[in-house]
Amino acid sequence: MEQPAVVEQPEVMEQPVQTEMCKAQSLEELVRILHRLFAEDKICVEEVQALMESYESNPEEWLQYAQFDQYRYTRNLVDSGNGKFNLMILCWGEGHGSSIHDHTDSHCFMKILQGNLKETLFEWPEKKGNGEMTKKSERVLRENQCAYINDSIGLHRVENISHTESAVSLHLYSPPFDSCNTFDQRTGHKHKVKMTFYSQFGERTHCATAVPQENN
Ligand SMILES: [Fe+2]
Repeated sequence: MEQPAVVEQPEVMEQPVQTEMCKAQSLEELVRILHRLFAEDKICVEEVQALMESYESNPEEWLQYAQFDQYRYTRNLVDSGNGKFNLMILCWGEGHGSSIHDHTDSHCFMKILQGNLKETLFEWPEKKGNGEMTKKSERVLRENQCAYINDSIGLHRVENISHTESAVSLHLYSPPFDSCNTFDQRTGHKHKVKMTFYSQFGERTHCATAVPQENN
């Protein structure tokens, strides 16, 4: 089995910081609470996941970040989490999907803001990667649901399988990373890729027209 490199995720706690789960009434409030949670040395995965799920998607609050591209899905930075996390909005046109990828030893939370996304989970390939990759499970994530993955859980592919509706998702990565590995489903061969933002804080970046990169 291919093992992830050095683990630098914030440690995981058994119990949440607060005894009561808080509900984020707006995207702004969600960001504020996330800053507070990630300021601690340890995070509780369930707490972050529940908090992200508690935010009821309101397009008026995130539309400025939702910048689509005709050919592939885009990554749009919303907040850089005081260096502790990156919060971004991914915009998926009809039929757009990611490659199979890992998460560079980070925590990855993925919440659906609009539409549906299919998540297919894979096992890590054998060290040399020389055959079809093993599918573990698949599911469809629906509006307001929040999924979680890290490298010990496996690898995944995310797709908007709809041919009539676009999809928008909110992703939190901690610690932030700008490169990951993508995997060829037929051979298990991996390939390191650098990721770019299509927009940052609502403004298009100069990377917007760069060669498409596979990412998370
Ligand atoms: Fe991912």
